[in-house]
Amino acid sequence: MIVVKSKEKKKVLKEIAFNQQKVEDASAVIVIIANPKAALENIDRVLDSSSELGYMKKERKEASKKRILSVWQDEEQAKRKAIRDSALFAMNIMIAAKVYGLETHPMDGFDEEKLKEFLNIDEDMYVPMIIAIGYKDPEKELLPRAYRFKFDEFGEII
Ligand SMILES: Cc1cc2nc3c(=O)[nH]c(=O)nc-3n(C[C@H](O)[C@H](O)[C@H](O)COP(=O)(O)O)c2cc1C
Repeated sequence: MIVVKSKEKKKVLKEIAFNQQKVEDASAVIVIIANPKAALENIDRVLDSSSELGYMKKERKEASKKRILSVWQDEEQAKRKAIRDSALFAMNIMIAAKVYGLETHPMDGFDEEKLKEFLNIDEDMYVPMIIAIGYKDPEKELLPRAYRFKFDEFGEII
């Protein structure tokens, strides 16, 4: 992630986000970056720590590594997993921010290619969203929540 706090950089980011003013007004904008090579780059660190902590036997490391890498070496699966994982991370940030009294606003209204160029983000990465974050202006009233689906419209219990 990259946390954009600088006034000048937020101004440029606003232009990249189709001139959405909130990008400039927010205290900071968090740029969420999904790395489809994350597993390939970090697998040894994670598996070594897992076996040291007793999550798996040392001799199982190579077999686990092979299995995990076979999935992450597939471009389409790696993309899907990286975006899924970073979206979970993003939601956790939003929930944690609320605990600290901050408001967040996820946004996908931006030009991803321009954003990557501006922040020197590797061409192979994805930016699934940016999150404006800050304290609510106490002078302002929020509009009531727009329509939310009822459980029956999107879920079932079987
Ligand atoms: C992935 C995602 C991207 C969004 N992108 C934008 C955006 O670019 N601009 C915008 O005004 N709202 C965007 N929204 C909507 C707002 O972030 C927010 O969800 C909406 O205003 C409803 O807010 P509430 O859930 O707090 O009621 C996006 C929402 C999601 C989930």
